[in-house]
Amino acid sequence: MPETVDEVVARLGEQAYLCDRRLATVILVALRIRKPLFVEGEAGVGKTELARAMAQVLGARLIRLQCYEGIDLAHAAYEWNYARQLLHIRLLDTGASDAGRATAERDLFGDEYLLRRPLLDAIDNRDPVAPVLLIDEIDRSDEEFEAFLLELLADFAISIPELGTVRAAQPPFVVLTGNRTREVHDALKRRCLYHWIDYPDLEREVAIVRVRAPEVSERLARRVAGLVQGLRGMDLYKLPGVAETVDWARSLAAIGADGSDPETLEATMGAAVKYQEDLESVRTAIPDLLRDRPA
Ligand SMILES: Nc1ncnc2c1ncn2[C@@H]1O[C@H](COP(=O)(O)OP(=O)(O)OP(=O)(O)O)[C@@H](O)[C@H]1O
Ligand SMILES: [Mg+2]
Repeated sequence: MPETVDEVVARLGEQAYLCDRRLATVILVALRIRKPLFVEGEAGVGKTELARAMAQVLGARLIRLQCYEGIDLAHAAYEWNYARQLLHIRLLDTGASDAGRATAERDLFGDEYLLRRPLLDAIDNRDPVAPVLLIDEIDRSDEEFEAFLLELLADFAISIPELGTVRAAQPPFVVLTGNRTREVHDALKRRCLYHWIDYPDLEREVAIVRVRAPEVSERLARRVAGLVQGLRGMDLYKLPGVAETVDWARSLAAIGADGSDPETLEATMGAAVKYQEDLESVRTAIPDLLRDRPA
C-alpha cells in the first residue's frame, strides 16, 4: 500500500494513470481512514480508469458494478437461486419425515442457494488483498438503490433478511463515480470523500497522450492536446474528454499526419467530436485554433 502522496502519484503513473497531487492526497486519505471515494467529473476525465489503476496498484481484484436505471438488489447484491430452491423442495416432497422437512426448509435460505452479485462479493470477500469495488455511474441508478448503499458504505455490511447481516472482514476500497446527470443524495455523499476530477492542464494531457499512445510523437501530442483544450473553451454540445484527445492523436499518427493541416484535422475530428452541430462549429474554428496554438 502506498505510504505517501508522492508514492500514490508514482505508483498510479506506473499503471499509465497520471494524476495530480490533489487527487493523490484524497486517495491516500481514503486508503488510510477506509472511507469510500466518490469522484465526479465530465465524461472521459478518467473516473472509471482510476478504479482500474488503483486495483493494479494495490494488487487487488477489481469488482465492478455498472449502475443503470432500475438496477436493484437482485442485480447488485444478491439473489436467491429459485431454480435450485424449487428442486430442493421437489426432492423433499418425495418422502421426507416432518422433522426432516422442517430442517430442509431452513436450508433453503442457506449459503448454497445464494447467488452473489458484485456488492455481496465485495463485502463477503476472502481475497488475500481487499478488493477494489467500483460502483460506476451511480447517478444513473434511482434513489431507492442509493438508499440501499448507505448501509454498505457506512458499515461495509449488507443485511439479508433470511440470513442476517454480512459484515466485511476486510473492507473493500470503494470508488463511486458520477457524471452529474442528476445530483446524488447528501446522505450518500456524507459517507464518502468527495473529489471533482477536472480536465487536465495542457502538460498533463500531453503526458497522458504519450503514455496511452506511445506511437504518437511529442509534437503531435502537443498539437492535438492544444487543439482539444481550445475546443473545451467553445460552446459545444459535448466537450471532448481525455479519451477523445488520445483517440484523435492516435488517428492522426495512424495516417502519418503531423496535425498541422486543417483538412486532415477536419477529416479526423470525428475521433473527438461526436455531434453533428459541434462538427460544424469545430470545422470553422480549426484554422483559428491552429494559429492560436502553434506547436
Ligand atoms: N489521468 C489519466 N491518466 C491516464 N489516462 C487517462 C487519464 N484520464 C483519462 N485517461 C484516458 O481516458 C480514457 C477514458 O477514461 P475513463 O473511461 O476513466 O473516463 P470516465 O471519466 O470514466 O468517463 P465516463 O464518464 O464517460 O465514464 C482512459 O481509458 C484513459 O485512456
Ligand atoms: Mg466511466
